[in-house]
Amino acid sequence: MELPFAESWRIKMVEPIHKSTLKEREKWIKEAHYNLFQLPSDQVYIDLLTDSGTGAMSDRQWAAMMVGDESYAGARSFFHLRDTIERLTGFKHVIPTHQGRAAENVLFSALVKEGDYVPGNSQFDTTKGHIESRKATAVDCTIDEARDTQLEYPFKGNVDIKKLEKVLQEHGDKVPFIIVTITNNTAGGQPVSMENLREVHKLAKKYGKRVILDSARFAENAYFIKTREKGYADKTIKEIVKETFSYADGMTMSAKKDAIVNMGGFIATRHEDWYDAAKCFCIPIEGYLTYGGMNGRDMEALAVGLDENTELDNLETRIKQVQYLASKLDEYGIPYQRPAGGHAIFIDASRVLTHVPKEEFPAQTLAVELYLEAGVRGCEIGYILADRDPVTRENRFGGLDLLRLAIPRRTYTNNHMDVIAAALKNVFDRREKITRGYKIAWEAPLMRHFTVKLEKA
Ligand code: F0G
Repeated sequence: MELPFAESWRIKMVEPIHKSTLKEREKWIKEAHYNLFQLPSDQVYIDLLTDSGTGAMSDRQWAAMMVGDESYAGARSFFHLRDTIERLTGFKHVIPTHQGRAAENVLFSALVKEGDYVPGNSQFDTTKGHIESRKATAVDCTIDEARDTQLEYPFKGNVDIKKLEKVLQEHGDKVPFIIVTITNNTAGGQPVSMENLREVHKLAKKYGKRVILDSARFAENAYFIKTREKGYADKTIKEIVKETFSYADGMTMSAKKDAIVNMGGFIATRHEDWYDAAKCFCIPIEGYLTYGGMNGRDMEALAVGLDENTELDNLETRIKQVQYLASKLDEYGIPYQRPAGGHAIFIDASRVLTHVPKEEFPAQTLAVELYLEAGVRGCEIGYILADRDPVTRENRFGGLDLLRLAIPRRTYTNNHMDVIAAALKNVFDRREKITRGYKIAWEAPLMRHFTVKLEKA
């Protein structure tokens, strides 16, 4: 008999989590103004709000923390981190930051000016925020295939080269760089192929532009290249990672994802001029250059995490768990962005809650229903997160309206996946009865989804 697939780790430490009653959850979600970000985590049973900073560190990472060097300048831990990043990516200039958006803030402070255009594949909301707050425009050049959630396509995160070339032709002198997000979170945790990265690189060269990889989930992207792209099956993840970054000039990194640390990030680049420009912003915004926004011990854990999560065993365990959850949803006929992404399942709310008008935010409504059902906390990646158009101030209803169930790394078991799937099925079975959603009672001018207050429509 063939042995089933199982985890490539065992559990050494556990953290209790608590179930609750429907009555309790009804009270709590009302108190949170129907915004799941506003729930205290003790009111959540299975937390799929994000895979960011919620992973379980390994014994090796915890051990590394004990040898952290907390020197203000020239800390040994910084050099460990820098050398690991250079070995994996080929980038020799490294600036540690406290998380991914801080890397964006520091680097974009140096590179993005008012009136610029920054093309890429569905920039993440903080990335878009750091572009738009500088009065520049983020242009989404993701391939159209990504917009059809039911279409099976192996690299739905790809950049549409024609769309990208159009931006370069029209706004060439106003494009400071191209940014490609791997994997493409907003499009559903969908990977970008090596072929596509190569084409973007070629086009960038043609127009004299540089490429940044927003690399939060670069290792998961490498796993998909290995398992889906011709010519990569026999390459190691580390080889694929090295080639990936060979097509880029620099990276911003949220280490809270694929480096499996609870906090941390960095900028890395092969260009001294970018490094010198970013340096001037790192010191006042984050901290001195050899710690930026991090502790010595955290840089040690980050270095180990980068190394561990660019090994096949670890990635396979992780992605197969996401695929396991997807297979349950297939069994129940629940529509999600296909194929399943690397870090999450994105339920297509507009295909589930067909009676809830878009003005009443179907994905948010589905998120609330799933929480009420079983204390499972997901995250709306839809019309609320899309914010308003900075010029017209109209809601942006043009994209997808998804409920993201992000799976933290090495944190939950497949029994938890069964609970999530069963809870979703129960909501799915009563979907015809859900006809009203939510309206906004208060919202912030930028990145409103974190603090928005909702009331029943
Ligand atoms: N880029 C991508 C692709 C991301 O997914 C995130 C964060 C960031 C940048 C910003 O990094 O959080 O460390 O400041 N994504 C989290 C998420 C928050 O839930 O998807 P950060």
